[in-house]
Amino acid sequence: MENINWSELSFGYMKTDYNVRCYFRNGEWGKLELSSEETLNIHMAATCLHYGQEAFEGLKAFRGKDGKIRVFRPEANAERLQSTCDGILMPPLPTEKFIEAVNMVVKANERFIPPYESGASLYIRPLLIGTGAQVGVRPANEYLFMIFVTPVGPYFKGGFSTNPYVIIRQYDRSAPLGTGTYKVGGNYAASLKANKLAHDLGYSCEFYLDAKEKKYIDECGAANFFGIKNNTYITPKSSSILPSITNRSLMQLAEDMGMKVERRPIPEEELATFEEAGACGTAAVISPIERIDDLENKKSYVIAKDGKPGPISEKLYNKLRAIQYGDEPDTHNWVTIIE
Ligand code: PLP
Ligand code: COI
Repeated sequence: MENINWSELSFGYMKTDYNVRCYFRNGEWGKLELSSEETLNIHMAATCLHYGQEAFEGLKAFRGKDGKIRVFRPEANAERLQSTCDGILMPPLPTEKFIEAVNMVVKANERFIPPYESGASLYIRPLLIGTGAQVGVRPANEYLFMIFVTPVGPYFKGGFSTNPYVIIRQYDRSAPLGTGTYKVGGNYAASLKANKLAHDLGYSCEFYLDAKEKKYIDECGAANFFGIKNNTYITPKSSSILPSITNRSLMQLAEDMGMKVERRPIPEEELATFEEAGACGTAAVISPIERIDDLENKKSYVIAKDGKPGPISEKLYNKLRAIQYGDEPDTHNWVTIIE
């Protein structure tokens, strides 16, 4: 791939050679098929188009110094997709089929996996959609699972460098008993206005408070939140945030580093007490937080006082990346090597 500037990649779509598809018809999942078509041909009354019967996932493949290709925690994404399917009445895709599809699509697009030195990766985007026609609000009888891949760089500006974030109170992304814990497209549609507002005001991303009391930190539009103080890693417990696989991994790494880990409601005012904080996710990896502004309450919680990422965030980031690229031992069996 001589004409891709790997180290300058942003988080965007680039055409690759193949995607993989699998149809659910007559009550069962069929065989995986490779396709080189970028478009889908679906019924105009498909439930994904009208009633948001749509789930997606996000994971990454990395090229190691040793030349090997590693995928980070695909089983966890398979399980979260099953949970999302349960949440919006779609047939769950078995874990083995998910993993087989990941292997197939990554191998078929091997030439698009960025080289080790670039610090970029191959983003893997699975989706599962209701394709059967319905006009009444009910689940489809037919579904399509597919995965495409695209090489990506950092999601937030500068990669591992601090950015400003803003609490948006005018919009909620999800309700306490809503779909926030599922990775459904509707949550992201609900976030578009808040996200635009944040960007228009010069912030990296919008932060949501819990929708019921508007008191506790939930997450940002595309990543979980963590704060660090007194050698403790603290992250929100909430029924309206996505259970992030990156966050779960960071909790484990923090524990391995001898830190205490707390998962509990985080009142907004507590932001003033953190020594470090970050947004974390597959796309974001760790995006260190410079400050979080609450414009309506005229407050600015400055976290990175010197504007630089904190030492613990940096250690966590380096450890996670080292495992993903195969530079350090994978002691928790998180990595699948694609042969
Ligand atoms: N929260 C939201 C709303 C997300 O879209 C994502 C991205 O997947 C995350 C958190 C991070 O989850 P993960 O670490 O599994 O990518
Ligand atoms: C991810 O981190 O994989 C995401 O899905 C975030 C995103 C919506 C780009």
